[in-house]
Amino acid sequence: MASQAASPQAEPAPRNDRPGNDKRGDDNYLRIVDVRKEFDGFVAVDDVNLSIRKGEIFALLGGSGCGKSTLLRCLAGFEKPTAGKIILDGQLMNDIAPYEQAVNMMFQSYALFPHMTVEQNVAFGPTQKKMPKAEVAQRVEEMLALVQMTKFAKRKPHQLSGGQQQRVALARSVATRPKLLLLDEPMGALDKKLRSHMQLELVNIIEKLAVTCVMVTHDQEEAMTMAHRIALMDAGRIRQVGTPDEIYEQPTSRFAAEFIGLLNVIEGTIEQDHPDFVTIRSGALPDPVFIGHGISGFEGQHVAFAVRPEKVGISKQEPVQKHNKARGTIEEIAYYGSHSVYHVRLPSGFKVMSNFANRERWASDSFTWNDEVWVSWDDNAGVVLNS
Ligand SMILES: Nc1ncnc2c1ncn2[C@@H]1O[C@H](COP(=O)(O)OP(=O)(O)OP(=O)(O)O)[C@@H](O)[C@H]1O
Ligand SMILES: [Mg+2]
Repeated sequence: MASQAASPQAEPAPRNDRPGNDKRGDDNYLRIVDVRKEFDGFVAVDDVNLSIRKGEIFALLGGSGCGKSTLLRCLAGFEKPTAGKIILDGQLMNDIAPYEQAVNMMFQSYALFPHMTVEQNVAFGPTQKKMPKAEVAQRVEEMLALVQMTKFAKRKPHQLSGGQQQRVALARSVATRPKLLLLDEPMGALDKKLRSHMQLELVNIIEKLAVTCVMVTHDQEEAMTMAHRIALMDAGRIRQVGTPDEIYEQPTSRFAAEFIGLLNVIEGTIEQDHPDFVTIRSGALPDPVFIGHGISGFEGQHVAFAVRPEKVGISKQEPVQKHNKARGTIEEIAYYGSHSVYHVRLPSGFKVMSNFANRERWASDSFTWNDEVWVSWDDNAGVVLNS
C-alpha cells in the first residue's frame, strides 16, 4: 500500500508477543553512537544514537529522503560515517571493509545472480568465505529448507515468482550466518497481497535463525507488522523509538502521531490544569475536551489534543457520558471492508473521524450520509501533544 501519514488502514496489530520484546539477550548488541553522515555539507544522518538487542527485528521508519538508507548503508560499511561509532558485538565497525564484516544486506531488487541457479545463488556467500565444499552443500540444503525452496534448487531466478525470488534472496543473505542482517525495503517489489503474506513469513524465518535484523521501510504498516521496535526518522534524526504499540498509543510528538495511522487533531488551549484532570478549550468543539488525568502543561498553553478514530464512538442517541461528546452530520463515509470511517461535520465546521466495525453488512444500526449523529470518546482516549 502507499504508506504515508494518512494511510487509511485498520489499526495495526501490536507485536508485543514477539520474543525480541523481552529482556533476554544483549541489549547493546549493536550500538550506533552519535553517528552522522554528511554529503558535501548536507546532513543526511544527524547524530543518531540507537542500541539494538541481539535477535531483535528493528525497523527504521520514515518518509522519503529522511536518511534511512544512508544509515543502513553506514551499518553495512558501504558508507563511512562522517562522525560517530558503530559497534557490533563489542567490535568497532567503522574501518572494517564491507566484505570483511559479519553483516549482510538484502537489497530491494534482491540482486540474485541471473545466470546462477537457486542453489548456486545461496552457495555464493559461503563459497566466498572459503567454507569447505561439503559444508557449503549442507548449508545450502539447510537454508533452502528453511525458506521452503528445496524443490526449486535447480531453477534460475527468472523461473521464479516474486515471492519465491525474495525467499531465495533471504536464504542467500543469511547463508553465511551474519551477525547482522540488513534489509532495505524488503517488500519493495511485491504486490500488496504477497507483501503482507511475506512480511509474516520473513519474520518467522528471521526469528528461527535468531539473527539480529535492521530493516528500512517507509511503510508504517510493514514496520508495525514486522518489527519488535521501531525508530521513527525525520530529516536525519530519530524522533521516537518504541514498540509498535508504544509509538501508536503514546506518540511523543505530533509528527509521530500523524505519521502512524489516522488521527483527529483538535487544537486548543489548556483551560483548567489540575493534578487529576485537565480541560482544553477549542473552537472546534462546543464544550472543552476533558482529560481524566494530569499532564505536563500550564493554563493558557497552546496544545494539540489527538484521538484515534477507533477511539471515537458514533451513535444516533446522545451518549450518557458527561464530557467529550458532540453532535454533527455524517458528511463522508469511507469503506474499508472490515470497518468504515465516518467523517462527522460539527457545527463549527470541524470534522471528526470515527471508525465503525462492519460486523453485519445490513445492520439496522448502520449510518448513512447526512445522518445526525453523536461522536464521543472516553476521558482517557486521547493524548496531548506539545510539539
Ligand atoms: N551519495 C549521496 N550524495 C549526496 N546526497 C545523498 C547521497 N545519498 C543520499 N543522499 C541524500 O541524503 C538524503 C537521505 O537519503 P536516503 O537515501 O538515506 O533516504 P531514504 O530515507 O532512504 O529515502 P527513501 O525512502 O526515498 O529511500 C537524501 O536527501 C539524499 O538525496
Ligand atoms: Mg531508501
